[in-house]
Amino acid sequence: MWIALTREVSPTLGACELTHLARDPIDVARARRQHVAYEEALGSLGCEVNRLPPLPDHPDAVFVEDTALVLPEVAVVLRPGAASRRGETASVAKALPAWRPTLALEGPGSVDGGDLLALGKTVYVGRSGRSDEAGAEELRRQLVPWGYRVERVALSGCLHLKSAVTRVGPETLLLNPAWVDPAPFASWQRIEVAPEEPHAANALRVGELLLYPEAYPATRRRLEAAGCRVLPLDLSELAKAEGAVTCCSLLFEA
Ligand code: GLY
Repeated sequence: MWIALTREVSPTLGACELTHLARDPIDVARARRQHVAYEEALGSLGCEVNRLPPLPDHPDAVFVEDTALVLPEVAVVLRPGAASRRGETASVAKALPAWRPTLALEGPGSVDGGDLLALGKTVYVGRSGRSDEAGAEELRRQLVPWGYRVERVALSGCLHLKSAVTRVGPETLLLNPAWVDPAPFASWQRIEVAPEEPHAANALRVGELLLYPEAYPATRRRLEAAGCRVLPLDLSELAKAEGAVTCCSLLFEA
């Protein structure tokens, strides 16, 4: 059984944090419809969707991925790099012990979940403006006793590590080599995004299927040519908030 933790789109989404995008007015009602369709897609794939309590005064609260890392053995509540987002973690800290022993970063460092890519027993941490050395080091100290190693990965031009690379198959990653150096992932098969679609590296793998933005048809063709099964979704309003498919849930096996 797969669990997906989500949170409804806040009415304040238009005041979200933005790092690499210019502010473009967001149609919040449309963002909500897109988000509900995303939750329904997760449900149709057999996930039990659990909505966290709404946080209307937190513009980015829909992007729950940034608040925690959930591994098969343990969960870690994170400390988001943007001060405006720190209030998003309390309800996640309350929810996660139902499924995992739950640790928490104390700070002063910070780590956003969007910067974390767990591949087997390695957790890659993007060197972004959100995830600093102190945060990565605290995460390392917490995960080593659970048998994990933590490796930092350089980024350029994007918000998070998972803006640049995500897992799309048992042995395959989808990656934008302009934003992340492929070298740390040399043992993996790689599909590169179409050059005209730099934002296309973020896919959400649910079992054998990928939830994927319909905005990236050229990269989708590359995925399908490689044998991936893709369920396209319109997430255009959430994309204006620098959010993508992985950002909108914490997905893990019960
Ligand atoms: N708006 C998504 C973020 O910056 O955290």
